[in-house]
Amino acid sequence: MFPHNSALNIELDFFYGYFSETLKDFYQNTGTLGKACLYTCLGKGKRIRPLLTLLSMENLNGSKLLGMRPAIALEMIHCYSLCHDDLPAMDNDDLRRGIPTTHKKFGEASAILAGDALLTDAFLILTSKKFPSLPQIPQHQLGTVIEEISTAAGSQGMVQGQQLDTEATGNAQNISLAHVSKIHAYKTGALISSAMAIGAWMATGSHEIKEKYRLAGAKLGTAFQIFDDLLDVEGTKESLGKTPGKDEAAHKLTFLSVMSQSDARELGEKLCCEAETLLRESAIHSKALFNLIQFLVTRDH
Ligand code: IPE
Ligand code: IPE
Ligand code: MG
Ligand code: MG
Ligand code: MG
Repeated sequence: MFPHNSALNIELDFFYGYFSETLKDFYQNTGTLGKACLYTCLGKGKRIRPLLTLLSMENLNGSKLLGMRPAIALEMIHCYSLCHDDLPAMDNDDLRRGIPTTHKKFGEASAILAGDALLTDAFLILTSKKFPSLPQIPQHQLGTVIEEISTAAGSQGMVQGQQLDTEATGNAQNISLAHVSKIHAYKTGALISSAMAIGAWMATGSHEIKEKYRLAGAKLGTAFQIFDDLLDVEGTKESLGKTPGKDEAAHKLTFLSVMSQSDARELGEKLCCEAETLLRESAIHSKALFNLIQFLVTRDH
């Protein structure tokens, strides 16, 4: 939930209604695997990536419902990334979104498999005729959407970032801001920037606008991870729904390895302002998009 922002909560409910109904329907009768997938996806979660897709579409006067398939697919991939990120071999976390992590609840093997299923099923949601309540992505746009999402999710994006994050863990000495920025651009920036690029592409069909939204998304993605790193230090278990203080304890390389908390906050705010300026270069049709950017700067979860 977004505190004191009913406009954003309406957008969140709009997305979550389609997301939860689609997944509950899809995973019924799929046994423990389906239960673990639903557990990983439903419940609390800010849904930043799908909202960025839908609100980017709205900002460009597009129909939000048309962006629902990529929005759902992106959130499924994000949820899988969290499920795997929490595994003992990675960050070894017990708490996520205020409840036990998927591997704590279902065991490690089922958590790995739930992640595998969510990643693969995301592409079924994108392409299959099976989901009548979700408008199909127009045929001439589908290839680009699939290319966007697979590029952002795999070895050219999020998974590469997780690999670089793993390699950097315990090696925080003599690391430059440029290197930390690179890791986070892959780890967090790739999915967020492609969420916005897809919204822009589906609303306009323009490569130029797509690239402008990707750039804005890359800035927001970096800012988002800066605030995630700050919240790991400054947040509480209650507000975050995950255990704070893990980064330092695990010798993680974060923005706070190379700058002070106040400099990091300043950089995060500056990046959000730059993203806003880029988006304001054309007509504004979504106040909620700007509310969401504002939330990224002030969030406590
Ligand atoms: C946490 O993502 C992991 C990062 C990429 C920083 P979110 O903060 O978007 O997590 P949820 O989806 O709201 O739980
Ligand atoms: C995870 O980053 C980014 C992903 C791609 C999942 P973190 O490890 O910092 O995320 P949290 O703090 O556990 O949510
Ligand atoms: Mg991690
Ligand atoms: Mg983690
Ligand atoms: Mg973190």
